[in-house]
Amino acid sequence: MEISTNTLQQIEDAINSYPEPKSALLKILHLFQQKDGYISQETIDWISKKLSMEPLNVLEVITFYPIFRTKPVGRFLLKICHTLSCELQNSSEVCKILQKELNCPELGGTSLDGLFTIEYCGCLANCDKGPNILLNGKLCQEITPENAKTFAFNLKRGIVP
Ligand code: FES
Repeated sequence: MEISTNTLQQIEDAINSYPEPKSALLKILHLFQQKDGYISQETIDWISKKLSMEPLNVLEVITFYPIFRTKPVGRFLLKICHTLSCELQNSSEVCKILQKELNCPELGGTSLDGLFTIEYCGCLANCDKGPNILLNGKLCQEITPENAKTFAFNLKRGIVP
């Protein structure tokens, strides 16, 4: 497993900022997820050795926090708001259309071409302009069942609104 000198230094800094190395676990998980987009089994093994923990204990922490991923994500990560206001504006229908158009049959999974990951998320604080989607961190509003196909069509060509 390749880890840059910079990341290694950040890990050491995190460990040294606590009396107990194990306390740096969350910081280290964030570092790896930022770097790789997810936390692989190889990473879990590496971290557990580094912090003298059992891999299972590292995995328990990862699975406790929904922010951490154990599978790779696509180049485009779409988080579709599933909270009431967007849901009343048909975000579920939008989700189904995008899953079909972008070949993502499983929510939270990634399309075979590695380009798209679709998942639900909570309120994106733009409720009056739903349905809302967070696309690689960029808010896309008013993605309706009527324009969702065009949104997907453009996205497949790398056109981000
Ligand atoms: S309910 Fe979707 S942005 Fe608030």
